[in-house]
Amino acid sequence: MKTAKIGLLGFGNVGGGTYKILTQNKKIIEKRTGVTPEVIKILKRSKNKKRLMDADSSLLTEDPDDIIQNPEVDIVVEMIGGIEPATSFMVQAMKAGKHVVSANKAAIAANYRLLTNTAKEYNVEFLYEASVAGGIPVLSSLTGPLEANNFVEIMGILNGTTNYILTKMTDENLPYDEVLKEAQEKGFAEADPTADVEGIDAANKLSILIALAFDKHIHPDSIPTVGITGISSDDIKAAEESGKKIKLIGKASLRDGMVEYMVAPTLLDKNHPLAGVSNEFNAVYVTGDMVGELMFYGRGAGPLPTGSAICGDIINIMKNRF
Ligand code: HSE
Repeated sequence: MKTAKIGLLGFGNVGGGTYKILTQNKKIIEKRTGVTPEVIKILKRSKNKKRLMDADSSLLTEDPDDIIQNPEVDIVVEMIGGIEPATSFMVQAMKAGKHVVSANKAAIAANYRLLTNTAKEYNVEFLYEASVAGGIPVLSSLTGPLEANNFVEIMGILNGTTNYILTKMTDENLPYDEVLKEAQEKGFAEADPTADVEGIDAANKLSILIALAFDKHIHPDSIPTVGITGISSDDIKAAEESGKKIKLIGKASLRDGMVEYMVAPTLLDKNHPLAGVSNEFNAVYVTGDMVGELMFYGRGAGPLPTGSAICGDIINIMKNRF
């Protein structure tokens, strides 16, 4: 059987989840693809951090070039987060002829054209399903089964941490700080949760959705963005009293040929399908001119849902390029 040699850049929550899936579900992946996924190197940055998974110490390295420039590696999976050095690592890997899978919404949103153009130029795959809404296969649906549509609107709950916080504040009257700490413990929140609570993470994801649905790259800094730090328990109570729910919504719509976009806490009618999306779950509500309205719902964060999407991209490459 052919083997796909994989290098993991990052061994935190998402790296650990991905490694676990590739190990635990190896047999089914082999059966479905006819290719063996073999992790041959893992970049781990901090020595003593508590890890989700253990890996044989011979696989571990602290030098990214052991993966990016390693002639043995076929697929580089970038899970270190942040714009740099992640973007440079991905570009270098593509230039070295490696396919790249990434979960890194910040790097992709900031450098969308550079990354997609480099992949084209070097004839390698660049897949990033996990970067938006974790385990939900929304990107490949937009560029696959839904591709015949002109998209009219994309509207979503794109950040698990803030949805978790708003849900617990609403349903259990818990204070903001306590719930944020819980989200961090569960591995949903970013290392610096400012990106979650200020809406920056949702803006990164919306930027990627806009690029795929409307073929326009809008840098996330240009997306008007408001987070949830200004939402008080009183706001939540007032919303409830008027039959509404507050959700952090990322939205892009086509109006008179122009794409309008924003991320902001939004009052949704309790009957709106997105109002029923609770805890760390994400949902993306898509309107296409032909398909009409549909909603994708699932876990948008966490090691295994995110790892599931990453492994889906790896499998896609194994099927098409091996
Ligand atoms: N911090 C992100 C979230 C992780 O809470 O949704 C997934 O992108």
